[in-house]
Amino acid sequence: MGSSTGKEHKKIVVLASGNGSNFQAIIDSIDSGYICANIFALISNNPDAFALQRARKHDIQVILIRPSGFESKMDYNDALLAELIKLNPDLIVLAGYMLMLGEQIIKRFRGKIINIHPALLPSFKGTHGIRDAFEYGVKVTGVTVHFVDEEMDTGQIIAQETVNVLEDDTLETLEERIHKVEHQIYPKVVSDFLNGKVIYKEG
Ligand code: GRF
Repeated sequence: MGSSTGKEHKKIVVLASGNGSNFQAIIDSIDSGYICANIFALISNNPDAFALQRARKHDIQVILIRPSGFESKMDYNDALLAELIKLNPDLIVLAGYMLMLGEQIIKRFRGKIINIHPALLPSFKGTHGIRDAFEYGVKVTGVTVHFVDEEMDTGQIIAQETVNVLEDDTLETLEERIHKVEHQIYPKVVSDFLNGKVIYKEG
């Protein structure tokens, strides 16, 4: 994990609930030396997430926090916040994390949490961005990386890349191309953020 360029290694924490292909893209970019950082932990709400296996394979600490173990969303988010404070990351990367972060977490880490969304925000927010855009019949869709705020998919946009919808696209072929773009754009934004090239604008 990580490279030995002699540069300071920043701390990343990744939150993922599912497959974790974006998490993998970041791991690979660290291994290749493109991102100068260490992933201190993968945090997940889902014990069955494939992302957990990816983490274990790369000796990345896994922290599983199951919402069902708490009486309320507030308690769950308090526990998550406590872990994040302990880890003290420079950057929190949401990579297919399927729950809304509690306001207490946003308040504490505002400007240090990023998310990737598989559509051109502010269009097609929500869980099914690729499918919703495809079914709407758009000719151009894409990928957005943004800072996370209290609402879903509304935070300050950092980077976007377009993906053309082709005449013979199926949902599956479009998904494949979108994911390919995600795996390029997300490591780039992570690297740029850690190098001070991406800055959160207050207010
Ligand atoms: C990605 O399409 C991302 O844009 C969205 O959730 C999906 C996660 O995929 N937020 P993976 O778990 O990284 O493979």
